[in-house]
Amino acid sequence: MVVRRSPRQNQPASAPPLTARTADRHVLYQRSVQAPETDAAFYDRWFRRYAGRPLRRLREDFCGTAVLACHHVKRHPDNRAVGVDLHRPTLDWGRTHNVAPLLDAEQQTRLTLLQKNVLAVQSPKSDAILALNFSYSVFQTRAQLAAYIRNCFRSLRPGGVLFLDAWGGPDVLQKKTDKTRHRGFVYEWEQRTYDPISHRIQCAIHFSFKDGSRLRNAFVYDWRLWTLAELRELFAEAGFVGIEVLWEGTDTKTGGGNGVFRRTKRGGMDEAWISIVVGQKPK
Ligand SMILES: C[S@@+](CC[C@H](N)C(=O)[O-])C[C@H]1O[C@@H](n2cnc3c(N)ncnc32)[C@H](O)[C@@H]1O
Repeated sequence: MVVRRSPRQNQPASAPPLTARTADRHVLYQRSVQAPETDAAFYDRWFRRYAGRPLRRLREDFCGTAVLACHHVKRHPDNRAVGVDLHRPTLDWGRTHNVAPLLDAEQQTRLTLLQKNVLAVQSPKSDAILALNFSYSVFQTRAQLAAYIRNCFRSLRPGGVLFLDAWGGPDVLQKKTDKTRHRGFVYEWEQRTYDPISHRIQCAIHFSFKDGSRLRNAFVYDWRLWTLAELRELFAEAGFVGIEVLWEGTDTKTGGGNGVFRRTKRGGMDEAWISIVVGQKPK
């Protein structure tokens, strides 16, 4: 939900102007915060570095519209993906707007979408599990998050890899709204409340349009802000080995992230940062 710098899907130049009445919040979300083709290649590359083999069986937890799972399936005829999400209308939207247009009939047989709680899925066993855009932050207690990470461990094949992205830095604790202009609309990321005692953080996404209309609270999040130290400890307690943090570099022109991630032992004192915690199930 914080904006990452990678190629996005863009509104075709000929499309009619977007307004709050005509826009589809899932389309706007995908254009604003997701880069599924780039991400599918990115996680395949990192998986190969850890496991020494190609990423064939992917599970996308909290998959929403499953667009990343679709792109994984498209990458190779042996690739399979499972997308897991609780929310049937979002999965149905993904079936209509991502699965049907992106995948042919054969490719669709290699994608499974499960309307389930991520805590309740252990099979089929996967090579890699992704929980992206901080979705695991819905787990607000250490016990809940530990149960989730343990369940991921159980769901992986030997040598399998869990990737969770994370965010932080003093900027994310500020009450503020960041705006990013896209063709036809503005994406607004609101940091609404943060409680330093519980680390509960409430955020929202709004979209505004050239005609002055606004899609307020298109997505609302009630999360716990987890630290990298906590995530690393929970990975270790679940049995993961080779636990590392991939830290995003800084774009010297904008001061924001540059989309290039490197293994690091010490993070920088950045105002805002995004990183990825990685752990491997022993082979
Ligand atoms: C922020 S969206 C993530 C979308 C996508 N993964 C991304 O990277 O942008 C979070 C999704 O998690 C789903 N969700 C929340 N709690 C869940 C749970 N316990 N099990 C499965 N899905 C859950 C919601 O329905 C929602 O679609």
